[in-house]
Amino acid sequence: DRQGFAHFMLKEIYEQPEVVRRCLATYLKPDWNSDRDAALPATPFNLAFPEALFAVAEIQIVACGTSRHAGLVAQYWLEQLAGIPTRVRSASEFVSAPFPLTTNTLTIAVTQSGETADTLAAIEVAKKRRSQSDVSLQSWSLGITNQPDSSLTKAVDYTLPTLAGAEVGVAATKTFMAQLVVFCCLALAFAVRRRVLSPQQLVDTIAALRLLPDQIETTLKQQHEPIQTVAQTFTDVKDCIVLGRGMNRAIALEGALKLKETTYIHAEGYAGGEFMHGPIALLDAKVLVIAIAPAGNVYDQMLANAQKAKTNGAPLIGITNVTESSDRAVFDHQITVPAIDELLSPFLTVTPLQLLAYAIAVQRGLDVDRPRNITKTLIH
Ligand code: M6R
Repeated sequence: DRQGFAHFMLKEIYEQPEVVRRCLATYLKPDWNSDRDAALPATPFNLAFPEALFAVAEIQIVACGTSRHAGLVAQYWLEQLAGIPTRVRSASEFVSAPFPLTTNTLTIAVTQSGETADTLAAIEVAKKRRSQSDVSLQSWSLGITNQPDSSLTKAVDYTLPTLAGAEVGVAATKTFMAQLVVFCCLALAFAVRRRVLSPQQLVDTIAALRLLPDQIETTLKQQHEPIQTVAQTFTDVKDCIVLGRGMNRAIALEGALKLKETTYIHAEGYAGGEFMHGPIALLDAKVLVIAIAPAGNVYDQMLANAQKAKTNGAPLIGITNVTESSDRAVFDHQITVPAIDELLSPFLTVTPLQLLAYAIAVQRGLDVDRPRNITKTLIH
């Protein structure tokens, strides 16, 4: 039931505040109250793992498509926040080129459906290599999935459900958001156990996480109309470049994937700095550039990249929470999201890209929920 929405994709985009609320209610202890930190429990997270697992030396993430993009955001959180070396590989690539065997390793498979053949094959390869090794390797596997009864759950040691509810639209939206919440709680839980996060940082981050559902709601309310207008302007664009830095590089990849699969626009996501090393030659007045530029460490560099794109004639959309008028002048169209710590910005920068892909696909008269050539789950 689309509950009054024109398409499942739109309904699922609008369900995201509720999905985040549900995931936080599950993974955050309700008695963790940042106003009375004296009485805080040891960890604010409901994640029952053995103590040794929290001491892993390395994390390896395997996934496909949108789930892999969630893994790339997680890589940033796990490395920069929890200090754990983390690698991400497409499950289909991992099968023929697995990561070298290491001890004290947590392998995480992420899949909305829990049935994606490549991801299941990757987890089997990881397990087989572990069991055939001469050295006894201490390692664990964890599945992050929206289908707790799936084949993935049977293949891994632990499962963290994403609690997004059934996702019908072929383009993953709310399940991506739920994967981000689970990964963020996981990275924070590691950071707490490994004592690499100050109590104040933790209290602040938990408080910021709790604001997310309302902030996503605000983004949806405030940006729905402006994004319709932008979509009308760019309905017929053939090429689009999405730029992001740091964690938002993964959101650039995800935004480009949403555009590709729903609108059939040729869209590519790049790290802002890397884009300067060749791909910028693509730009002219016909190539749309979308710059993801939230306030924070990489803001100035991102703005410089955006400025450079503009100098090369490209029309420029900015997704930002910086509203100073001088900066606004850089972007031809500005999509404003609520202010948030850079660390959590992916939660807010992804929604405008989902809405934009949806709106352009509708303008183009396409079958948004069932794009050509793809199915919801890729089972060989
Ligand atoms: O069910 P999974 O998360 O394993 O699916 C992985 C990809 O096939 C999936 O994310 C695909 O890229 C989506 N159509 C993206 O919207």
